[in-house]
Amino acid sequence: MSGSNSAVAIRRPNLAARAARLLGQWGVFFRGFMEEPRMVGAVIPSSPFTVAKMLAPVDWNRCEVFVEYGPGVGTFCQAVLDNLRRDGALIVIDTNPLYIDYLRRVFRDSRFHAVLGSAEDVESIVAAHGYDGADYVLSGLPFSTLPEGVGPGIAAATHRVIRPGGAFLVYQYSAQAKAFMARHFKRIDNGFEWRNIPPCRLFWGWKQSESSEG
Ligand SMILES: C[S@@+](CC[C@H](N)C(=O)[O-])C[C@H]1O[C@@H](n2cnc3c(N)ncnc32)[C@H](O)[C@@H]1O
Repeated sequence: MSGSNSAVAIRRPNLAARAARLLGQWGVFFRGFMEEPRMVGAVIPSSPFTVAKMLAPVDWNRCEVFVEYGPGVGTFCQAVLDNLRRDGALIVIDTNPLYIDYLRRVFRDSRFHAVLGSAEDVESIVAAHGYDGADYVLSGLPFSTLPEGVGPGIAAATHRVIRPGGAFLVYQYSAQAKAFMARHFKRIDNGFEWRNIPPCRLFWGWKQSESSEG
């Protein structure tokens, strides 16, 4: 799937404010990378092109609960909040306390919940927020450098937590994540975004709705 960008509203504050915010964000992100290079797996945050392309297939009308793994400094968070309905929830999960502290300071929105923890525990984290599942789960995790066994465990837990008709959205520099996804998701759409450092692959794994067969 190539994914059109038209459905995703990206906020555009004035240039100076945007540049200041970006520099602050990038500094925090780079500090996190220096401290935990294998867990962070990238030197700078994803590009706005990746954000728009990744989120383009999301049906915001049916999205009550949106979960993000590895938000880092929140590169996707504002775009998700801009599109998420008023009674929706964005639950972000990151293992790095530096990023979680930063996100809690920057995103002052009652729909936003930043959790210090691992994506492996997504089911208990979603339940602790009062929900029986998530409509979409987005992952920025560096699957290829995570400790042995963690990636497959996360893919399995993600399939269990996603509500029928929902999707697992993944961007990665390698195809490793797709192998983990393919064990659980029958339909996986593929994309590629070269306007990212480095260019990245995008995957959308769809969980079948209750009405579909198989
Ligand atoms: C490549 S960075 C993603 C950055 C951000 N989403 C972006 O697009 O700019 C990967 C993130 O995954 C986090 N992480 C690594 N292992 C994790 C795990 N098991 N559960 C949750 N977050 C994890 C890291 O702390 C880091 O913030």
